[in-house]
Amino acid sequence: MNEEEAEEKINYLRELLHRHNHLYYLEATPEISDSEYDALMHELRELEQLHPALLIPDSPTQRVGGAPLSEFQSITHPVKMLSIEDIHQLKEEELEHSGKERDEGIVEWFSKIEKNLGGGISGLTVEPKIDGVAVSLMYRNGLLDYAATRGDGTTGDDITANIKTIRSIPLRLPLNAPPVFEVRGEAFMHNKDFDNLNSDRQSQGLSAFINPRNATAGTLKQLDPVAVSLRPLDVIFHSFGLVEEGSFKTISEFHEILPSLNLKADKWFRSVTSLSELRDAIAALDNDRHSFSYATDGAVIKVNDVDLHQKLGSTAKYPRWACAFKFCPEQKETLLESISIQVGRTGVLTPVAELSPVFISGTTVSRATLHNEDEMRRKDIRIGDTVVIEKAGEIIPAVIKVNKEKRIADSKPFDLFKYVEGKCPSCNGQITKGQGFVAWKCVNLTCPEKAVTRLRHFGSRQTLNLEGLGDAVAEKLVETGLVANPVKVLSLEISDFADLELDPAKLKSGEISKPRRFGEKKATLLKKSIEEARNLPLNKWLSALGIPTIGESAAIECSRLHESLSCVACSDFLPLIAERGEHENWIKANPVNPKTGNITEAEKAKRKETAAVIRARIHEISESLSPLKLSPELGGVAAREIIKFFNSNLGKETLSELKRLAIEPRSDNYFKKIGNGPGSTESSLPFASTTWVITGTLSKSRQHFKQLIVQNGGKVTGSVSGKTDYLLAGDNAGSKLAKANEISVKVITEPLFEGMLEKS
Ligand code: IVH
Repeated sequence: MNEEEAEEKINYLRELLHRHNHLYYLEATPEISDSEYDALMHELRELEQLHPALLIPDSPTQRVGGAPLSEFQSITHPVKMLSIEDIHQLKEEELEHSGKERDEGIVEWFSKIEKNLGGGISGLTVEPKIDGVAVSLMYRNGLLDYAATRGDGTTGDDITANIKTIRSIPLRLPLNAPPVFEVRGEAFMHNKDFDNLNSDRQSQGLSAFINPRNATAGTLKQLDPVAVSLRPLDVIFHSFGLVEEGSFKTISEFHEILPSLNLKADKWFRSVTSLSELRDAIAALDNDRHSFSYATDGAVIKVNDVDLHQKLGSTAKYPRWACAFKFCPEQKETLLESISIQVGRTGVLTPVAELSPVFISGTTVSRATLHNEDEMRRKDIRIGDTVVIEKAGEIIPAVIKVNKEKRIADSKPFDLFKYVEGKCPSCNGQITKGQGFVAWKCVNLTCPEKAVTRLRHFGSRQTLNLEGLGDAVAEKLVETGLVANPVKVLSLEISDFADLELDPAKLKSGEISKPRRFGEKKATLLKKSIEEARNLPLNKWLSALGIPTIGESAAIECSRLHESLSCVACSDFLPLIAERGEHENWIKANPVNPKTGNITEAEKAKRKETAAVIRARIHEISESLSPLKLSPELGGVAAREIIKFFNSNLGKETLSELKRLAIEPRSDNYFKKIGNGPGSTESSLPFASTTWVITGTLSKSRQHFKQLIVQNGGKVTGSVSGKTDYLLAGDNAGSKLAKANEISVKVITEPLFEGMLEKS
C-alpha cells in the first residue's frame, strides 16, 4: 500500500471507528460486536505505525497513550468553577406538626430570586444533580486541549490523559463548535459498571469501592492512563466556562446544542416558568431518578436566561442564579432474613443484617451493620422483620427502623449471647461483655477470625496499604498457618503469596467464582508494597497494629510524643496518661455526693479522703504532662491499651519480628523535631491552641487535613460549638457550615487554609 492509499484507508477506518464509538457510547445502539470494533482498531494502529507521519492527536488510537505520569500538572481555570448552594429536602421527622412542606427551601429560594430580579422569573431549568466528580474540558479550534479537575475552584489537576480514555468524550468537536469552548460536566460510573467492577475486584482479592463516586474519584486520580482505560467511566455535560464567539443565551439553548457537538447531555431536563411547575418538576425528578443508570442526589435548578446570571451575580462561593435541591437519602423496605456475627480485629462481635437484596441509592444492598445488641434492642430489630434501610451519607447501609405492622407473629427479641450459644462463632472461645460496655467480645487471643481481621486491617489503605491483601488472601494466609500475627506477612516471599489457592468468591450477581491461584503478578505487587511500607511513618504502623481504641488520630498524637516504635513500647508518658485516666474514672465513679443511691456518712468521709489524695496525684501528673500539650485524642484508655499491647505476647512478638527485619518505624511529627512540646513555645506552631472542625468535600481526604492541623499544633473535633475556632469547609458543606455562620465561627476555605500554612 502506498502512502496515498494508506492515508485513504486510515481516514476511512477513523471515520468508521468514530461512527461506531458514537453509536455505542452516545446512542447506545451498537451495530458491530466488540471484537469487530477491536479488529478495526488493530488495523488502524498497524497502519499508523507503518505511516507515522499520518498520525494525528485525535485519532481513536490516541485515547490511551504515553507513560504513567509522576504527578499531575496544575491548570488554572479561565472561569472559576463555583459550587452550588445546597437546599436540603426536609426529612419526614422534620415535617410532623410543623406545618412545613418538604421543599420549603425551594419556595424561599424562588421568592429570593424573584425579589432580586424585581419581578417575575421568566424561566428556570431543572436537571438531575449527578453524584460524580466535576471535570472541565477545554476545546480549542474543535480539538480537546486539556481536561482538569475542579480542585479548589481556581486551580485543578490536569487529567487530560485520563479523560481521553473515556470513549464517550469526543477528541474533536464538529465544525459548529465555538473556537474556544470550555465545557463542564460530571464524570461518573454507571451503577451496573460499578457493580461489575467491584465484583471483579473482590474476586481478585482487592478491596471494593464504597460507591460509584469514590470509584470515579479514585480512577481519575490514577497517574497511569492505561489503568484508567480499564475502568468504565462516563461523562455528562451540564455547564460551560469560557466560550468565545457565539456564547449561549439560555441554559436550555446550551443543553440542546450539546448532542449536535457529540457531547453527552442529561436526557432528563425540564424548563419551567412558575413556582408550581418548578415544584412539580422536582417531584417528578425525585420519582424518575431511581430508574436512572447512575446515582443522583438532587435537582439542580438554574435561571434560564444567561443575561440574568450577571444581574444576580454570585457570593464568594455560589452563583445566585442556581441552587441544588438535595434529596433525602433513599429509604427502602426489605426483609431481614438472618443475622450473622462478625468478629472484629479486637474481638468485638458485631451483628450484621443479612437482607433480601434491595437496590438502593445506586447499588444492591444485601448486608447492613446492626452495630451492637443495645442498638438492636433500642430499635427492637428481630429476625424475620421487615426493616427500613437507608444509606447513611449515601454510603454505608444502615437499618433505620422496623415496620412493626409487618412483623411475624412468633418473632422474639434478639439475644446475642443466646444466638451464639455463649461462644465466639469463629473459634468457639469464651465471650464476655464488660460492665458498662455494649459489645460482646471474644477473649481468645488466638481466635483465627481476629487474626484475619487484624491482618486485613494491617494491610488496609488507611494503614500500611498492602496491595492485594483483601479478605480472600488474608483468610488463606491465616488458614494455612502462614500468618497468625500480622507482622509475619512482612517476611513472606513472592512464592508464598503466589501459590495461595484462594477460595471461590460469591459475586454480586449471585454466581460463585472459580477457585483461583493468587499468582506471581499480584504476589509481586504485594511484596513491592510491603517493601514500600518499611518507610511509612510511625503513626501508620501504630494504627496498623490493631490496638483497641487506637485509630488514626490517637496514632498521630502518640507518634508526636515518641520518636520511634521502640520508644512507644517503653514510653515514660503513656503510663502517666493511663494512670491519670484511671484516677479520673475513680473520682467519677465514686462521687462524694452521689445523685442516685445513698451512701453512709462513713463511706462519704472515706471517699472524700481518698479523692483528695487522688486529686493531688492527678494534679502532679498533669503538671508533669502539661508541657506536652496533650490532645484528647490520646486519653487514658488509649494509653492503657498501648501499654497492654506491648506487654502482651502478641506485642512482644511484633516488636522482635520488626527488629529482626530491621524495620524501625519513625515518627514524622515528633515534637522535639518540629518544636511542638516540652521546651518549645507551642505558640510557634501556626495552629497552636486552636480547635478545628472539617466539613464538605475537599481536594484530599479529611485525614490528610486533620494530620496537617494536628502536626501544626491544632486540634480537630467533630462538631461546631462555641469552642471551635475554625471550620475548614470544602464543597457541599451543609449543617456544620450553617452552624458556623450562625455562631460566627471563622470559615476557612482550602486556599485560605493553604495560605495560613504557607504564611507560617
Ligand atoms: S451546574 C455554577 N449541573 O454539583 C454551577 N452542576 O455542588 C455550575 N453537578 O460542582 C454547575 N450535576 O460538579 C451543575 N446538572 C448539574 C450538576 C452539577 C452535578 C455538580 C457540579 C458542581 C457541584 C456543585
